[in-house]
Amino acid sequence: MRETKNPELTADLYGYVLDHNPPLDPVQRELVDTTHQKLPDAAGLQTAEEQGPLLSFLVRLTGARQIVEVGTFTGFSALSMALALPEDGRLIACDVSEEWTALGREAWAKAGVADRIDLRIAPAIETLRALPGGQWVDLVFLDADKDSYIDYWEELVPRLVPGGLIVADNTLFHGQVTDPAAGGGAAAIRAFNDRIQADERVDHVLLTVADGLTLARKR
Ligand SMILES: C[S@@+](CC[C@H](N)C(=O)[O-])C[C@H]1O[C@@H](n2cnc3c(N)ncnc32)[C@H](O)[C@@H]1O
Repeated sequence: MRETKNPELTADLYGYVLDHNPPLDPVQRELVDTTHQKLPDAAGLQTAEEQGPLLSFLVRLTGARQIVEVGTFTGFSALSMALALPEDGRLIACDVSEEWTALGREAWAKAGVADRIDLRIAPAIETLRALPGGQWVDLVFLDADKDSYIDYWEELVPRLVPGGLIVADNTLFHGQVTDPAAGGGAAAIRAFNDRIQADERVDHVLLTVADGLTLARKR
């Protein structure tokens, strides 16, 4: 019998969760608000609010110094991770949109972490293929086009240090991942989840955080 212990996440309960997470840094809060004000149609792309403190927590937990992010949008996840990096830590942020990431650049400067973030505007697969080889990446956050998740994975797992962490967002794809009739992003995420499940280079867990969050640690 597979019985869930997850309570229904009502608005009330979700508010409670947010209220009992570490409060957002004022610049994080402003960035969430500005994104909704300036980009109302695209704001849904933003990483869920409760994932900001989680990403900061994971950076501190792993002691990460070298981070690669795939999918930056207006910079909330990058800001959350950069705030937790030590001063000499670096985050390479990959995105294709100058317009969206411009909001991120402003916020990173305001938060005093702009010098920790190296934004690369290009299709992420090109940026990743051009990265140095060897094992030097401590933490990866995957949050861009779902069709390419497996390609990103194959570029990044070899570059991870042993014990390094990949955090992949949207691995339940709006709950559509189990619908065999759903193609597009849902099918891509299904293939990605199957790839991780079969990958003996990592240990992993798929968590029911937000839209599904997979943590994979390189053996
Ligand atoms: C879900 S949003 C990322 C949200 C972001 N992590 C945050 O904290 O708000 C996905 C982003 O991936 C970017 N993207 C889509 N296809 C891409 C590609 N081929 N290469 C790089 N970035 C891409 C989009 O421009 C968009 O900003």
